[in-house]
Amino acid sequence: MTAEAQRFAGRAALVTGAAAGIGRAVALRLAAEGAQVLAVDIDAAGLDATRQAADGAVVAHVGDVTDHAQCRAAVAAAVAEFGRLDVLGNVAGIARGEHFGAVTESAYRQMMAVNVDGYFFMAQAAIPHLLPAGGVVVNVASNAGLMGQAYTVVYCMTKGAVVQLTRALAMEYLKTPLRVVALAPGGVDTGLTRGYQMPTDVDWDLVMRYTGQRGMSTPEDMANLFAFLASDEARNIHGTVVSSDGGMTAG
Ligand SMILES: NC(=O)c1ccc[n+]([C@@H]2O[C@H](COP(=O)([O-])OP(=O)(O)OC[C@H]3O[C@@H](n4cnc5c(N)ncnc54)[C@H](O)[C@@H]3O)[C@@H](O)[C@H]2O)c1
Repeated sequence: MTAEAQRFAGRAALVTGAAAGIGRAVALRLAAEGAQVLAVDIDAAGLDATRQAADGAVVAHVGDVTDHAQCRAAVAAAVAEFGRLDVLGNVAGIARGEHFGAVTESAYRQMMAVNVDGYFFMAQAAIPHLLPAGGVVVNVASNAGLMGQAYTVVYCMTKGAVVQLTRALAMEYLKTPLRVVALAPGGVDTGLTRGYQMPTDVDWDLVMRYTGQRGMSTPEDMANLFAFLASDEARNIHGTVVSSDGGMTAG
């Protein structure tokens, strides 16, 4: 599928985490395929770079997904701007490598707030608008939501919650046209992975168990899959976690 396809012509999307990495690639891809896109992030400068990369075809909205009121405000801004909402992309997330015993309460609560609360409150705010459009929620999970990983206990917990958010919402809305799906990347070359730091005294044998053998993928690889999952071509995919991880979770 090329970017010249127009699978989202006449449709509106809200993408969180759109100032960088996977979220930016998703916002650009949906816009290239005809969507009107509200790009949401805490990083105003990064959002501006996304808007410029889209030749202005993306509307930037600064917002913090950990704040329930700001989630509602972001959805309201999309509906006010576009008059409808067809796609919610829950992408904003944070990760850290750390010993279980060294996780501070504030670090724990921050990761829960971004990776779980943010997904929940964005979905809660968006679904009333997605329902009449027969829309879709695409939650970016992770291989970390499907397997246990040393030194990333809180991250694994949050991504497991994203997987179950996806399945539970899929069942609650089973009798409606809404679709809810999850995309589970493995290692993707973004600021998140480039800035990733492990404590120096970890057992690297345990880390290598979740280090992909086929190298990093790109944000565009994820945007390709996201766009498919959000499109009508994926109309039969509901409540499913689709991995794109170079085989990381295969065995
Ligand atoms: N990069 C990987 O290898 C990888 C693998 C699996 C899953 N993921 C998931 O993909 C998603 C995107 O990750 P990425 O690699 O593109 O990371 P990234 O750091 O490049 O981008 C994340 C974006 O989220 C934004 N963000 C952080 N906190 C926010 C908040 N409170 N409110 C709004 N925006 C906020 C950041 O400003 C940033 O622009 C995350 O959910 C991550 O867990 C990434």
